[in-house]
Amino acid sequence: MTSERWALGGDLKVGRLGYGTMKLTGWPRGERPERDTALEVLRRAVRLGVNHIDTSYYYARDGVAANDLIREALHPYPDDLVIVTKVGALVEGPDVALPADRKTGLTPANLRRAVEANLRSLGVDRLDVVNLRMGDLDRAGAAIAEPLQALYGLQQEGLIRHLGISNVTAGEFGVARTVAPIVCVQNLYNLAQRDDDPLVDACAEAGVAYVPFFPVGGFQPLAAARLEAVAGRHGATVPQVALAWLLARSPNILPIPGTGSLAHLEENVAAANLSLTPEDLEDLAA
Ligand SMILES: NC(=O)c1ccc[n+]([C@@H]2O[C@H](COP(=O)([O-])OP(=O)(O)OC[C@H]3O[C@@H](n4cnc5c(N)ncnc54)[C@H](OP(=O)(O)O)[C@@H]3O)[C@@H](O)[C@H]2O)c1
Repeated sequence: MTSERWALGGDLKVGRLGYGTMKLTGWPRGERPERDTALEVLRRAVRLGVNHIDTSYYYARDGVAANDLIREALHPYPDDLVIVTKVGALVEGPDVALPADRKTGLTPANLRRAVEANLRSLGVDRLDVVNLRMGDLDRAGAAIAEPLQALYGLQQEGLIRHLGISNVTAGEFGVARTVAPIVCVQNLYNLAQRDDDPLVDACAEAGVAYVPFFPVGGFQPLAAARLEAVAGRHGATVPQVALAWLLARSPNILPIPGTGSLAHLEENVAAANLSLTPEDLEDLAA
């Protein structure tokens, strides 16, 4: 694991490569590992040096919830572990029953309920980082300022250490920074989905972490001849090259690959030691 660190909010030092827990629950769809494997994946991630774990109270299906797994596997939490969670649009969860309209998750009352659900399930008095997730459906009229102001209020109450935003545009990033200090932006970004290139750079300029979700392709694994060629040159795998490329792209990028497999976890963590050459980067950019 590389020794490179990024200080979220200036004080929470995390390794460049984190871990995303969504896959442990099979939410919103797909297979999930056995409970014992899920717990071991979390414990091994920490043993391998991962100290940035991404989650949410709504990553839950059929009674298997990411926050419960994290708590069972890792509580009492190591001092340097940073758990980043999210609230906002898309809020259905095991213990938060809300009307079907996703946008209701952005009201002050439901943001509070979601923060409280995360506090309760993770078993903490204060959340390290909470991302305000603006959603990816039609959100006409759901401006970011009002819900962010509500979360800022919860931060002032001491329930949240730092704030981030997720599924946002560059314009929303600009507005958000006038409302509250923002330490990270979590959006869809990988070798094949680079619409956010300008936002990655804007975040870097502002000293804000950019956390790409679906770093190895999410539900559509990345596959391309150029990726395979670079992987072949290094005796590496395609996901490892995808992760190494993200780490090389900008120092503020903190990928959070998800997996329910111990072998894939080890492979992904090892990607932090894969140095791509200028020739690799040129080939991957083609
Ligand atoms: N803010 C948001 O709206 C949002 C949205 C989506 C996700 N997220 C967060 O971002 C995290 C990452 O996204 P993700 O987990 O959906 O996508 P991802 O990390 O790009 O991909 C995960 C998928 O790739 C497979 N995989 C991972 N490593 C592999 C390897 N070394 N070799 C082969 N297959 C591999 C996994 O299957 P196996 O289990 O078989 O390894 C899983 O199906 C999530 O866990 C979640 O915490 C946030």
